[in-house]
Amino acid sequence: MNGQARKIKKIDVVIGTRPEAIKMAPVILELRGRETFSVRVIATGQHTDMLSQALGYFSLSADVNLGIMKNRQSLDYITSSVLVGVGELFDSDPPDAALVHGDTTTTFASALAAFYRRIPIGHVEAGLRSFDMSRPFPEEMNRLFADRLAAWHFAPTGQSRENLLREGARDESIFVTGNTVVDALNAVLAGPAGGASGAFAQRLAGHRFILLTAHRRESWGEPLVRICRALLGILDLHPDLMALVPMHKNPEVRDVMRNFLGGRSRIILCDPLDYPDFVWAMDNCELIMSDSGGVQEEATSLGKPALILRDVTERPEAVEQGSCVLVGTDGERAAKEADAILRGYNREELMERRLKNPFGDGFASSRIADVLSR
Ligand code: UD1
Ligand code: UDP
Repeated sequence: MNGQARKIKKIDVVIGTRPEAIKMAPVILELRGRETFSVRVIATGQHTDMLSQALGYFSLSADVNLGIMKNRQSLDYITSSVLVGVGELFDSDPPDAALVHGDTTTTFASALAAFYRRIPIGHVEAGLRSFDMSRPFPEEMNRLFADRLAAWHFAPTGQSRENLLREGARDESIFVTGNTVVDALNAVLAGPAGGASGAFAQRLAGHRFILLTAHRRESWGEPLVRICRALLGILDLHPDLMALVPMHKNPEVRDVMRNFLGGRSRIILCDPLDYPDFVWAMDNCELIMSDSGGVQEEATSLGKPALILRDVTERPEAVEQGSCVLVGTDGERAAKEADAILRGYNREELMERRLKNPFGDGFASSRIADVLSR
């Protein structure tokens, strides 16, 4: 060092929603564990309780929280408030680099705020593509823009790297790291065993169950009604089964779920679960049904059969590995596939799948930190 202090790099990590918190927590912890970095966690507050719940498991909290969330907020509102709010934070205390994650409106708008100030951007979970701008909406556009603006692309898989190269990203800007969700999942699996803590676990004791989540914008309305009906159909066919449905906080989702699934003894409708409880539920259910992005990666990592309630996915690796089946929101198809899986459940096959995880080995965060150290 020749008596000179090594320059500490100031990194702003911007997060807004539950999945960004879960998938960036291992990165924040890794960077904070290295002397080279000073990390500021900026929460836009696009989510409130769901964000703090997710960060809480990792004993993290935001250093600054813009608290922008409004009930039934519009995309224009989120975009403009994040752009202005994060931009002002960058102006008052400029970082050497900003990290964003995935495909939310927080991701896109905060990357844009960094770009306007020529702050280099690292995009974690870069290169995912469904190749359909309307599904998922607006996430496909959000991640395309974030990738276009980024200096470093942290691609989870070889396929996401290929997508970026095809769009003209420079090879030297792309680093295949694995998905940080595997780091997060491994942290839970390595934690104290002992099952789930919530009241829901008592009601499920001794029962086989399906785990259902849904929240995508393109599922709102009629598709969500079909998803609920599909679940009811499956429960009719399998009288021993229960269902656990942790409802997203979005009223568009909760209203429909309460209407169609409420007041039934075999369906547990509850608030979002703490991350370790949700991991327990994924690991212990018979079948997952979900339109979530992250859940596809987690189901695959756990080797758990999952019906993906979408027509297209930006995570084809999950389908190729065999854990996930794309069934759309056509209730009949979902019910038929569920029935086939529930009757042909093969635990050995699942354990074999678990060993072939296309989403990485759980060391994505340390690879990202290595790149930023250079
Ligand atoms: C957002 C992301 C989506 C991501 C999802 C993860 C966008 C446009 N959408 O969708 O990509 O998959 O988060 O869950 O970026 N709400 C609460 N409390 C919370 C969170 C949400 O009450 O902690 C309610 C509010 O009424 C809010 C509404 O849910 O207005 C919708 O939240 P929003 O972030 O706009 O959309 P999501 O569907 O959560
Ligand atoms: N999750 C959670 N509690 C729940 C439901 C989901 O902790 O009750 C976690 C899940 O394990 C995954 C993430 O939230 O890591 C997925 O978030 P979501 O489905 O909201 O967003 P997406 O991944 O679709 O963007």
